[in-house]
Amino acid sequence: MKQQDYIRTAEENLFHVYNRFPVVFDHGQGVHLYDTDGKEYLDAGSGIGVMALGYNDLAYNRILHEQVDRLLHSSNLYYTPQLAAASEAVTKATGMDRVFFTNSGAEAIEGALKTAKKHAYLRDPKARQEIIAMNHSFHGRTVGALSVTGTEHYRTPFYPLMDGVRYADFNDLASVEAQIDDGVCAIILETVQGEGGVVPADRDFLRGIRRICDEHDILMIIDEIQCGMGRSGKMFAYQDYGVRPDILTTAKALGLGLPVGAFCVRQELAETSLIPGDHGTTYGGNPLVCAAVTASIHLMRQRRIPEHVTELSPYFESMLQKMADRYDFITSCRGVGFMRGLVTTLEPRLVAARALEEGLVILTAGSDVIRMLPPLIFEEKDFDVLEEKLIHVFNSFC
Ligand SMILES: Cc1ncc(COP(=O)(O)O)c(C=O)c1O
Repeated sequence: MKQQDYIRTAEENLFHVYNRFPVVFDHGQGVHLYDTDGKEYLDAGSGIGVMALGYNDLAYNRILHEQVDRLLHSSNLYYTPQLAAASEAVTKATGMDRVFFTNSGAEAIEGALKTAKKHAYLRDPKARQEIIAMNHSFHGRTVGALSVTGTEHYRTPFYPLMDGVRYADFNDLASVEAQIDDGVCAIILETVQGEGGVVPADRDFLRGIRRICDEHDILMIIDEIQCGMGRSGKMFAYQDYGVRPDILTTAKALGLGLPVGAFCVRQELAETSLIPGDHGTTYGGNPLVCAAVTASIHLMRQRRIPEHVTELSPYFESMLQKMADRYDFITSCRGVGFMRGLVTTLEPRLVAARALEEGLVILTAGSDVIRMLPPLIFEEKDFDVLEEKLIHVFNSFC
């Protein structure tokens, strides 16, 4: 079948909720994707940060194949060896004490919010349980996660959402302080805002949030669904800031393509929040995704992926800086590790579409950012090809 035929069938049947690019992917290998006509694409998007070890990793695939043949699902009524191993791997990798497995990032946020609210409720059943979230944040599309997502146009069609959310400005401690009163039970933020435009938290800001939370007995929720799992050059980006959250969310690269997320909490909070009956999910933490989680953490450590990202991050950054110096329509570059953005006066979606013609997958963020989240196995030679392709793409806009 031709790509157009697949697209027509899909569009005749799917609920049209995404504006997809007209490409039909068939398979992937390493840092490349291939469409059904056999055209090769350099992937600088990783399926929005998921495919951190690239495509068709044989060691990872073998672990999944074995688990498919052994046991796919048994429910959260019981234990499995894979659940035990994954829970230990996640608490060690995150530096947190307890973990709950979810099926997506948004569900991890829901669990984090419920944990904070239950903690506040136990302290005072009349507590207002309000949450401070950041402008331009993105935490997901379910009702709770959407309620703390700081982009008005995502929320507007769905009011009334969850009550009691206030918004402050990212990297502006005074604007957070201005929102604090005794009704607030938690502050939620990303260490690096992803969808909002690839904006890392300033060191003083993240540490300031921790101080405010400690002073006012408020919980700090850090969302590393996009920036975690080695992408920043640390296993989790917050680990570079000298702070520890009360609740941490992760997903995306946690399962390297299998749908799994998690929220993790400190021990004291685990003892003073959710109890059996408060929360649950049928699939969450099934043996297949748990085998994937343990494998992804193990392979990242074994291959020293965070160290590799730290080593090559300046190479990536200086290549992007060259783009900003060379083209008037690129006004700056920003980001950390292998999570970077070019701020542009062009329409980012047009650039991403043009890149696909050039055999390059890139992403967008916000209204003015070209976002790149390459697989964490990118080598210098891959960044060189990325540079060449970007130059071709940008020259066509000159
Ligand atoms: C920081 C952040 N939080 C939450 C989410 C929601 O995750 P999911 O799409 O798996 O529900 C995303 C997705 O892009 C994200 O980037």
